[in-house]
Amino acid sequence: MMDKVDRILIDEQKLMNRIEELGKQITEDYQGKELVIISILKGAVIFASDLVKAIKLPLVMDFMAVSSYGSSTKSSGVVRILKDLDEEIEGRDVLIVEDIVDTGLTLNYLVENLLSRKPASLKICCCLDKPSRRLVPVKVDYIGFSIPDEFVIGYGLDYAEKYRNLPFIGVLSKDVYKK
Ligand code: IMP
Ligand code: MG
Repeated sequence: MMDKVDRILIDEQKLMNRIEELGKQITEDYQGKELVIISILKGAVIFASDLVKAIKLPLVMDFMAVSSYGSSTKSSGVVRILKDLDEEIEGRDVLIVEDIVDTGLTLNYLVENLLSRKPASLKICCCLDKPSRRLVPVKVDYIGFSIPDEFVIGYGLDYAEKYRNLPFIGVLSKDVYKK
């Protein structure tokens, strides 16, 4: 697997340190409240698992699956719900946990969709942000790391469904997809 990694962008220790900070911040911001954490399958699952352990509040976890990328490295702009929530979120404090905000199309769609269910509040926490690629504006409340416009894998992020289990964020070798 390592031969497909051009270089390590964020190592495991850096990820863990930042997640501790994010968890503390979220714990403070939601004092006295109960959170519904919605993580987006499949990419956000590894980040969400570490993040919830750093949040010292009562919370429930739920999951949504949406399609946006297929198996290429370019966004199609089409978002479809493949799996919806189990929980009702009306009147509840909801935090979306996502792996990366790239064009913003996925989160933009999710925010619209979830707001229509009338949560008490709705915020977003993303492990990674690629600001230079944004096509539609999204207000991300908690960001782990801002990264340059390169295709990254690991820590939940895939290329053609692989590499999610790498414990760090790495840049995918260009020769994997540029033939
Ligand atoms: P957006 O709708 O363009 O913001 O894309 C968000 C989704 O695209 C993320 O949830 C990822 O699944 C995927 N994605 C965007 N950039 C990358 C990347 O660099 N590596 C792997 N997946 C990515
Ligand atoms: Mg994803």
